[in-house]
Amino acid sequence: MMRFAGFFSLMVWFQVAGLGDLCAQVTDPIHESFTFAFLTDIHLQPERRAPVGFQMAIEKVNELNPDFVISGGDQVYDVMRGNQERADSLFRLYAEMSKGFNMPVYNTVGNHDLFAIYPESPEDELHPDYKYGMYQRYLGDTYYSFDHKGWHFIVLNSLGTTGDGRYTAVVDSVQLAWLKENLERVSRQTPVVVVTHIPLVTARGIVTGNPAGHHVTNSSEVLAALEGHNLKLVLQGHIHWKEYGEVNDRFRYLTGGSIAGNGWKGRRHDTKEGFVLLRVEGEEFTWEYIDHGWEAERLRFNAVE
Ligand SMILES: [Fe+2]
Repeated sequence: MMRFAGFFSLMVWFQVAGLGDLCAQVTDPIHESFTFAFLTDIHLQPERRAPVGFQMAIEKVNELNPDFVISGGDQVYDVMRGNQERADSLFRLYAEMSKGFNMPVYNTVGNHDLFAIYPESPEDELHPDYKYGMYQRYLGDTYYSFDHKGWHFIVLNSLGTTGDGRYTAVVDSVQLAWLKENLERVSRQTPVVVVTHIPLVTARGIVTGNPAGHHVTNSSEVLAALEGHNLKLVLQGHIHWKEYGEVNDRFRYLTGGSIAGNGWKGRRHDTKEGFVLLRVEGEEFTWEYIDHGWEAERLRFNAVE
């Protein structure tokens, strides 16, 4: 009772002093700590010993024991051009293998997960699994949000298709409306993480001299929707590129390398195959790129083959 009376006095003091906002911060801090893993571009396929490499990543994640896993897209390689039998077998393989994680897995849709969108595929838009259909059947919604220990996670679908059978990097208007509505229910103090397969922000085009297709074309609209919110981090995949940046005092972005490297044949962009472990402490986070041992195993196997 005394403690309650003391708290009440403190509240009155803050209000008298005109420090209502400060009071809200004082009474509602986030003290939780947790870890989560971000694995992206797994490109699972039965060939090139990919299941061996993915299993090594699963075992490393289980050893680190984060609260949950986020997969950043391109879970399988690939279903854009394929027939139903092959595409089903790839998603089945991923769905089965990912049960090996000892914690929940949140998936993100990637371009290689879009069924039959290329003209080379024997199927077309009349097929019920076309585009997002097969992904949804195996892995669920292509965009959604969830909360964990005071943080709000938003997983976006950064993919559309063109009339001539190619994918585009865009967050469409229906999803943008959903995003704004979703954020209306989130306090402006709540730390937010956005996950997207195709980067919202990247220097890749500048570094390589090839700006085409490496970022979401309407990134500015997505970031405008998040303005005024406590956006901490944008987690990204697609370009198999390891990159970390800070945009003013506003947010940071992290492109998480890849599990598959260059199609399981070696490094891509001289970045070792791996994943990211994030540690959250209150409102702050740190990250570390984890080598799950696939490069050493790949080189060892190639040497004895
Ligand atoms: Fe990829």
